[in-house]
Amino acid sequence: MKHFDLTQKYLSNLGVLLVKLHNIHWNVVGKHFMKVHNYTEELYDKVFEDFDEVAELLKTKGVMPLSTMKEYLASATVEEVDAKDFTRQEALEIVKKDLETMRDLGSEIRNSADEEGDFETVAMFEDYVAFFSKNIWFVDAMLK
Ligand SMILES: [Fe+2]
Repeated sequence: MKHFDLTQKYLSNLGVLLVKLHNIHWNVVGKHFMKVHNYTEELYDKVFEDFDEVAELLKTKGVMPLSTMKEYLASATVEEVDAKDFTRQEALEIVKKDLETMRDLGSEIRNSADEEGDFETVAMFEDYVAFFSKNIWFVDAMLK
């Protein structure tokens, strides 16, 4: 089914984001350090939970989840960034772009699962999309 391929991509993005958000969490600098440092921690905790949940959803459906970093890097649409000192602005812009990628891909999975009658995937991804939408608002507000 089409939405399983998209779900593998989503899982790969979570795998990459888990490391990428730590990169920002560790390397952001400036007077708003603690805010961005703590916020990215909230995000990677959520990504960590979803990472396992999405892989287990695939297992439930009889699909072998992508399970290595090599596969995640090959299939992810979220791109890594080299480590450096990130200003608050740079850090939040990177995070915002990735939240949008996850919201859009999550919406596509939700709708494609709906067409295929997979209501369990629909239910899970409705929650994921709502989380990303809310956090895009947070980041937009922080960027003002
Ligand atoms: Fe930490």
